[in-house]
Amino acid sequence: MSRRKPADGGIGSLTPIEAAAEHARIAAEVEEHNRRYYDENAPTVSDAEYDALFEKLKALEKRFPALKSASSPTQKVGGRATEGFAKVSHRKPMLSLDNAFDEADVREFITRVRRFLGLESAVPITLVAEPKIDGLSSSLTYEKGRLVQGATRGDGQVGEDVTQNLRTIADVPETLKGRNVPKLIEVRGEVYMRRDEFMALNAAQEKAGRQRFANPRNAAAGSLRQLDPAITASRKLHFFAYAWGDASELPADTHWEMMQRFETWGLPTNPLSKHCKDIDTALALQRKIESDRAKLPYDIDGVVYKIDRLDWQQRLGFVSRSPRWAVAHKFKAEQAETVLHDIEIQVGRTGALTPVAKLTPVTVGGVVVSNATLHNEDEIERKDVRVGDTVVVQRAGDVIPQIVRVVTEKRPKRTQKFKFPVTCPVCGSHAVREINPKTGKPDAVRRCTGGLTCAAQVVERLRHFVSRDAFDIDGLGEKQIQAFFEWGLVRSPADLFTLAKRDKKSDTPLKERDGWGEVSAAKLFDAIEARRSISLDRFIYALGVRHVGQANARLLAMNYGSLERFLAGMKAARPRSGDAWEELNAIGGIGEILAGAILDFFAEPHNLDVVRALAKEVTAEDFVQPSAGSPVAGKTVVFTGTLVSMTRPEAKAKAEALGAKVAGSVSKKTDYVVAGADAGSKLTKARDAGVAVLTEQEWLKLTGS
Ligand code: IVH
Repeated sequence: MSRRKPADGGIGSLTPIEAAAEHARIAAEVEEHNRRYYDENAPTVSDAEYDALFEKLKALEKRFPALKSASSPTQKVGGRATEGFAKVSHRKPMLSLDNAFDEADVREFITRVRRFLGLESAVPITLVAEPKIDGLSSSLTYEKGRLVQGATRGDGQVGEDVTQNLRTIADVPETLKGRNVPKLIEVRGEVYMRRDEFMALNAAQEKAGRQRFANPRNAAAGSLRQLDPAITASRKLHFFAYAWGDASELPADTHWEMMQRFETWGLPTNPLSKHCKDIDTALALQRKIESDRAKLPYDIDGVVYKIDRLDWQQRLGFVSRSPRWAVAHKFKAEQAETVLHDIEIQVGRTGALTPVAKLTPVTVGGVVVSNATLHNEDEIERKDVRVGDTVVVQRAGDVIPQIVRVVTEKRPKRTQKFKFPVTCPVCGSHAVREINPKTGKPDAVRRCTGGLTCAAQVVERLRHFVSRDAFDIDGLGEKQIQAFFEWGLVRSPADLFTLAKRDKKSDTPLKERDGWGEVSAAKLFDAIEARRSISLDRFIYALGVRHVGQANARLLAMNYGSLERFLAGMKAARPRSGDAWEELNAIGGIGEILAGAILDFFAEPHNLDVVRALAKEVTAEDFVQPSAGSPVAGKTVVFTGTLVSMTRPEAKAKAEALGAKVAGSVSKKTDYVVAGADAGSKLTKARDAGVAVLTEQEWLKLTGS
């Protein structure tokens, strides 16, 4: 079964002090889940589990009203607006919906409405029933029919300005057509991704070695909240309109008519929505939609009932976070019981150890499930999942099935707590939980430190090694690397540099292999040869040490000067105390947590072997300080908009190589703003603040590139 309404949950017997403690504990948990959901787009609990916690808070507040303060999660909507986007104050707040979990809850909603409006039971209440789309809500402001701004919900009052990103969605009209378009209207609706598109995106993410999204909703959120609209445009997103905020005038008296207006204006509304003469008709529609749910191309998690008459909506108004005139009738999560017979640890291409529950196959909502994700080790600990347990599995909108809980009554005797491995099951290297440099807390994910030697990761690492900002070897992409690995030609970076020599003696030289010919093979060997000598920062960056991107690789190269000094420094710093450790920590921008992560890499003997073997083949050039005479040395530069001649990381690296400091936002300290195509708020801010604005061409000229 899905969440039940708290059968009081023992609340009645709590003293006010106990209740306050319980409330604080659950509120903190809910806040943490909100953060993971809204800020990281990576929830760790199912919606049903979240709802259960939320309902418990509400039950506590009902019994102990003093707990219902403004800071309680029950009084707030969703997440905060994050850094990186300009903030937008909604003209009218973007609210949430109250949930109903069964028919009785829905009937209570109607009773409340009748009571509030003073309507006898004979007075009919027409409703609109609409699918509850599982995406993220957005607000589109149209002035004189033109789209002028698009925003996420944020905390309901202030959201993020994602206008450019929303503009890339084909369903979002640039102009509203037809008659009676109000001078101003905030159109509200849901941005979502279809299931097939979500699967394709995840396959692509995986191929590129990037993190997969948990479900279509997170994928939609992650795609809409991209700082680069080109990325949003490359993801397939859709939009359904279902409400409005501020409006200069309303050309209708009912919600249903408004939805029809939306359609004539060119705003897509959901085709399954229905005008229902009473609550029984609406409930019947809910059952029908629930049973057809799996056949829909996108995820929905319930049906929303809205009181049709707008004058009644007006009178009913709002309670804290949600309107009194609407309710979301949530579907039951599709669940089943089965036995967990093993917990397998899979190692992803980026080294993440993921526990997977191996289940006795069971049908959940029409699909046979034999694997379920356990997310990470904290999750196993929290749910105390053990091999041999009977568990409840769930598919709730999410494509990947989840373990909801253990049926402890059915636990066999002599089970043992699961011990999460601390070494990688693929290569045997240490697997560690890093401290997240931003939060100072251990990461939820345990990772293999075997990077370049771990078979699960090596292809991804080699791909990084030859990539543009690293060794930049022309003619070697992911496909070629994968093939070289499978043919047994390249297992570690150093192998690339012995390839030509080995090829001469080989029975099947490269030019005779699939996809290669005389010219392409010779070209590749030349390209590899051209990298026998490389700058120290590229050498370090190419190793793919976690957290060591281009900027940190440069800092390390700058500080140590030579590969020899760098490796000696890493060795000497290993005890994590003493001069060498201090030196590493003292590098501006590195810090203790990052330093620890770097040392984890160099403490792994396999990794050192790889580096030494590489150093035999390749010369890492000593670091040369950028000339102080550079025209931008010591200047602070901000890049904004789309650059044509270089990528952002490239622009940043080049600017830094010339001694400039690259900042993410415009301030009084900014010397130059380099504005590419479609530059947005940063450009406006720069102009307002009188900061020098350069085109990309002007910047290239200034820096003599
Ligand atoms: S109406 C003032 N209608 O569900 C009422 N919301 O849990 C505003 N949602 O924030 C919401 N489909 O993101 C409404 N047909 C629908 C919906 C819908 C999905 C989302 C929306 C809202 C959340 C509340």
